[in-house]
This record gives sequence, structure tokens and C-alpha cells, in this order.
Amino acid sequence: MSAYYRIAVDGFSSCGKSTLARQIAEVLGAVYIDSGAMYRAATLLAIQNNCIRDWHLDTGCFMPVIQRATIEFRTTDNHLLLNEKDVEKEIRSPEVADHVSEVASHGFIREIMVQMQRSYSEKSPVVMDGRDIGTHVFPDAEVKIFLTAEPRIRAERRYQELQEQSVNISFDEVFENVKKRDEKDQNRSVAPLRKADDAIEINNSYLSRSEQLEQALEIVHKKIGDVL
Ligand code: CDP
Ligand code: CDP
Repeated sequence: MSAYYRIAVDGFSSCGKSTLARQIAEVLGAVYIDSGAMYRAATLLAIQNNCIRDWHLDTGCFMPVIQRATIEFRTTDNHLLLNEKDVEKEIRSPEVADHVSEVASHGFIREIMVQMQRSYSEKSPVVMDGRDIGTHVFPDAEVKIFLTAEPRIRAERRYQELQEQSVNISFDEVFENVKKRDEKDQNRSVAPLRKADDAIEINNSYLSRSEQLEQALEIVHKKIGDVL
């Protein structure tokens, strides 16, 4: 039993997890943690230290680097600080997206990230989004939501976002990346992406941001209305 409640929002790539988790945290006054951003930060660090070769992580090269690293979220704007540097923009690059599922498949990296994720929840209530939050990070989370949306719709949303940031990438490349990551995330041996048995599913393919929030808050109030 934890001192603070934990709300897990898991699901496939680009289905709106961060949008929803951030919305819930804002309404409830909880801390929002983007666990995907942490794996992205680890990937950026691996790239910067030349520890990725032929699409594979050189674990001997990366282990001492990640063990020394600090990953924090700045309270004022929630930006991720890697070794105290704001890398919020760099971790969203297509290069990081291409390598992140490989980096996130390694057990020693997941152990370090999970330890950090659990420590955040000891200080305040959290809403955390990712792939293994309800199954592995907080198997006894008070609320578990599993978000889904059709693959093409997810790729369109991500493509739209990248267009707005003037990133030079085609729709097909984005779609390919989304499908590849889903496949790798579901099939890795350590803490693969899957819906926890006690998670409640929301398919937001045709839901607006406010409609998905409404559905999620209904679930939250049913589960932990008494402690809010
Ligand atoms: O935003 P998007 O859905 O594209 O991905 P993300 O949440 O930023 O996560 C990036 C990658 O990190 C995922 O494709 C997974 O490979 C990995 N990840 C993970 O393994 N476990 C988590 N709890 C969160 C992310
Ligand atoms: O965190 P994840 O990768 O799952 O997705 P996200 O970054 O929260 O959302 C990807 C994009 O989909 C964002 O531009 C959201 O605004 C958009 N979105 C949407 O259009 N409709 C929804 N119901 C949820 C998200």
C-alpha cells in the first residue's frame, strides 16, 4: 500500500497517452511523469556516446554512462533534464524514435528507469504514462487505464505533430516507425507492452481530447473518488 495514489496510463505508440495523463494530472493536482521520455533520454545519451552500432546497443559502452546519468523532470514546465540539461526537444527527434525501442528492450536499462519511476511516486500522487506502468512499475496501482487507437490514426496524429514542428519526414516513415515500435514493445522479453488484467480500456480513435478526459475521469472517480 502506497502513501500516495498512482494512476497508470499505458498503451501503444502515439495513441494520446501523454495528452491524457497530463490532463488527468492537471485536474487532480497530481504530478505527471512521462516514462517514455525517460527511455528517450537514455537513447539520446546512447547516441551521444556512440554506444549504438548497427542498430544495436553496445551494453559494455553504455552501462557506465547510464549508471552515472541523472534524469529529472523540471517542476515548472515538466521538461526532461538529462544530466541537468533540458533535452525536451532532442528526445522527440526521429533519430531517437528509431532507436528507442532497442534501447528500452535491455533489462539493465529498464531496472534503472523503474527504480527512478517508483521513487517519484514516494513523494506525491502521480499519473504516469508508458508501456509497463500497470503491469510492472506499479502492479498495484490504484487506477489503470489502457489506451488504444487504430494504427493509421495514431500515425496521422504523430505525423501532424512532426509537421507542426517542421520535421522533415514522410507519413510512410512515421507509420513504419509506429508499427515497428509497437511490434518490438509487445515482443520484448522484459516487461513487454500488454494490457494489465485489471486495466480499463479506452479506444480514443474517434474521441476528442475532452471526451477522452471525461471517460478517464469517470474511471478515476469510481476507483479512488473517496481519496480525492
Ligand atoms: O510517445 P510515443 O508513444 O511515441 O512513445 P513514448 O511513450 O515516448 O515511448 C518511447 C519508447 O519508449 C516506446 O516505443 C517504448 O519502446 C519505450 N517505453 C517503454 O519501453 N516503457 C515505457 N514505460 C515507456 C516507453
Ligand atoms: O503519448 P502518446 O505518444 O501516446 O501520444 P500523445 O503525444 O499524447 O498524442 C499524440 C497526438 O495525438 C497529439 O498531438 C495529441 O494532441 C493527439 N491526440 C488526438 O488528436 N486526439 C486524442 N483523443 C488524443 C491525442
